[in-house]
Amino acid sequence: MSVAAVLTAAGSGSRLGHSLPKALVPLGGQSLVAHAARNLLAARAAGDDRVRVLVVTAPAFHLDAIARELDGLDGPDGPDGEIVLLVVAGGATRQASVAAGLAALAADPRASDVDVVLVHDAARPLAPPSLVARVIEAVRDGHPAVVPGLPVTDTIKRVAPHRGVTVEPVLETVPRGELRAVQTPQGFALELLLRAHTHGADDAHDEALAASDDAGLVERLGETVWVVAGDERAAKITTARDLAVAALPTEDE
Ligand code: CTP
Ligand code: MG
Repeated sequence: MSVAAVLTAAGSGSRLGHSLPKALVPLGGQSLVAHAARNLLAARAAGDDRVRVLVVTAPAFHLDAIARELDGLDGPDGPDGEIVLLVVAGGATRQASVAAGLAALAADPRASDVDVVLVHDAARPLAPPSLVARVIEAVRDGHPAVVPGLPVTDTIKRVAPHRGVTVEPVLETVPRGELRAVQTPQGFALELLLRAHTHGADDAHDEALAASDDAGLVERLGETVWVVAGDERAAKITTARDLAVAALPTEDE
């Protein structure tokens, strides 16, 4: 039995506003997708459990460029032993991209012993191997859907938004102690995630309906999702400011 990861890198990065698709944008000499892939493959969970199959979803017009970024990570000569690496075209939404990655995983005979799958965003390039390992271990400990989450530090208010209106009335202050800001990698029993994506497939091609994370699809099935401690370093890069923050020096693990 082994672990696979679907690394989503098919987005355009419209809010980042770079000339390259977000996953190809450099951060300290490596592209975001290369950072994310290396961190996933470097994780060692208990019992030497680790990612052995990596499926990367790429923008359809940048399959080769994404594959080049991952050159050398697969095969027996790669830094992490025998890794199966697949690069596939993503879809119109993140949900559709993950579904495309899962379809490629299910179709590859080299992945026939995979029973746990992580889904991770290239937009979180510095999620450390220790976080990846924590998620794998929680799934192996019997939690079939696991997300990393951090306590929310801002006060959160629910408002009544109206299109075109810039001043919004507050409906309530949401009790903060119950809130978690959820990150990736998210980890699943493969069978459960496949079922969740099949169940949610009708919404996958419409950004307004598609799930923004995979755990959301599991919730729609009525199954329990579990939260483990997240990590600040797994912060998502959305804007140019986020990229500048990610480039700041941090303490090593
Ligand atoms: N993603 C994907 N396929 C899509 C859309 C997004 O694989 N059709 C991936 C992105 O590459 C990213 C992750 O999903 O790793 C989270 O998406 P987001 O941060 O929104 O990235 P983008 O969609 O690229 O950015 P933007 O929304 O600003 O265009
Ligand atoms: Mg997006």
